Formats: sequence, structure tokens, C-alpha cells
Amino acid sequence: MAPAAEIDFASAPSRRLTGSGPTTKSRHLASIPVIDLAQPDHLAAEEVAAACSSVGFFYVRNHGVDEAVIENQFVQSHAFFDLPLEEKLKIKANASQRGYYPYSMGSAKNSKGQHDQKEAFNVYGFESDSTHLPFHGHNLWPPETMLPDFRPAMLAYYDAMNQVGIRILRLLGLALKLGPDYFLPKFQASTSNIRCVHYLPQQYSPADGICGVGAHTDWGMLTVLATDAQPGLQISHEGSWIDVEPRPGHFVINIGDLLDRWTGGKFCSTLHRVINKTGKDRYSCPFFLAPDWNAKIEPLPGLQDPTINGSQKVVTCGEWLSMRRAAEYGGKPLVAL
Ligand code: OGA
Ligand code: NI
Repeated sequence: MAPAAEIDFASAPSRRLTGSGPTTKSRHLASIPVIDLAQPDHLAAEEVAAACSSVGFFYVRNHGVDEAVIENQFVQSHAFFDLPLEEKLKIKANASQRGYYPYSMGSAKNSKGQHDQKEAFNVYGFESDSTHLPFHGHNLWPPETMLPDFRPAMLAYYDAMNQVGIRILRLLGLALKLGPDYFLPKFQASTSNIRCVHYLPQQYSPADGICGVGAHTDWGMLTVLATDAQPGLQISHEGSWIDVEPRPGHFVINIGDLLDRWTGGKFCSTLHRVINKTGKDRYSCPFFLAPDWNAKIEPLPGLQDPTINGSQKVVTCGEWLSMRRAAEYGGKPLVAL
């Protein structure tokens, strides 16, 4: 395994470097690697390999995305969630998984049947007339007369995130010694999406089991997350919940279940949740990168140890996403595919 990525103390918020020395919390915070995408790919890939086979989360900086594209997404996301509920409900999400998810819909429920404290809006990068297939269909948009800049801002943000995602895919190919282009053919018409999320100020203590987003792993290949300045994201690491502090100019990247499965667990998807306890609204926008609907998730060369993943059935991305969705929202047990 490659050595652990160097800790980036230089760009850590200064409050973490003052006081009476590192607390348990700050030690853990510092252990989330920061990977500089301005460095040559072979060096970045070593750090990606180390992060993906340990914590499963890392920050990236110098990612090349225009700050205005990120800012516009947040401005338009605020404007959308500020619309009256009846307007938002006109574009309520359906089986296509696109459009508006009000509070109490489309969110993982906890064991007491309580819902996540959030509302969300999904946009996919591919559109299709095959509406009999889950995740297929056309994006839903608020009327241009109401929010003229919403659609272009979201599409520009999707494109920017897709570019970051492809860059990380290339690093993953290098990190797995498969070559930078290995994964690209399976991401030609990808089933990726962005999700604008608005978290209510947390109404209950985590002990009640109600979260902004309950503990979960992401379903797809990897996630590129932008948040506003409010903290709230926590990852499960070595038995504790670790805060992932917002860092201006950085994205948070994490591995999804599909890549975890694809690598036979070599690269791990990590349990995480959001608890929005600042008393303020919190906005974030994850980009979920996933392969093409029909892409086959076959054992990767060099990772065919039957004790790792040799006995796994080959699934398509579409089968995988459908199964994960049914398990999470339909209350169906997670069947072994
Ligand atoms: C998610 C998620 C984290 C955040 O939507 O899957 O983990 O900070 N979001 O919003
Ligand atoms: Ni998540």
C-alpha cells in the first residue's frame, strides 16, 4: 500500500492549530487527506490510493472549477428552495429520480420511521424516453418565468462536476494500476446526477435518531461534494463520528458502494451522515458519479482473488442502482447480487 497521504496542516483553519494542543477531534480531522490536483497525476494517484484504502474520504484542492459556477449553483439552489411549497411540488420527483424531493419524501428513514431533515432537487446528466426504466426520463425544471437562471446554472454545475469526476476516475485508474483511461469507456452516457440539498436547522438531538441525512454509504462510483460554510457532515472512522469541516475552495470526495464492490473492498465506501446543529439552514450539492446504465461491473484485473470478489455476480450499473434504491426506499432487504 502507498504511504499515507501527507497531512495538509497549512490550509487547515487556524482555530484548529491554536489552543492547548490537538484534541482527539482535531487529530481525526487532520487525518482526512487533502489532495492537490495541481500536482502530476502519478503523485496525486498515490495519495488517492492511500486515501481510498483507509478513510474512504478526501478533500481536493486546485480542482480547476470556476468559483462562479459553484456560487451560481448555491444562489439558484437557495432561490429554488425559497419558492412556495406548492410551486416546488409541481415538479415533485417520480420514478425518474429527477426533480423535487420534499421533506419526508425520498429520504432514508431511521428505525423509528422518522425522516431526514432535508429537502432536495435532482438533475441527471443523461435524459431518455425509456420511462419504463427506473432512473430514466427527463429532468424537471421550475418555470423559466420564475427562475430564469436556474437551469443553466445547474447544467453548468453538472458539467463542471463531471469534469472533476472524470479527473478522479483517471487517478483511480492509475491508483489501481489499470491505467488512466481504464474506467472511461464505461462512463460515456453516465447515470450521474447532482443533488441540491437544503438541511433544516436540526430539530432534535442525534440521540433521537433524526439526522439531516441518516447514516448511509453512497451508491455509485464516487461523490464530489460542495457545501456552504455550515459544518454538519460526519464520517464514521475507527469507531467515532468525525466532523468533516467545510474548507473554502475544496471539494470533499468519497468512494461509493459500487467502487467498493468493484475493487473487492480494496477501496472502501465509508458510512457518513449529516447533523446540522448550527441552528442555521445548510445547503450542499453532491455530484454522484456512476457508470453508464448498461456498463458491466466485472472483476478488475489484478483484483480477481476469489476470496475477495471472485464469487460475485457481474451486475450492470443499472441493476446495482435499482437494487440499492429498492433496498433504501422500498424497505426491501438488500439482496446479494
Ligand atoms: C449525501 C450526503 C453530505 C452533505 O447526500 O449522500 O452524504 O454534506 N451529503 O450534504
Ligand atoms: Ni452521502
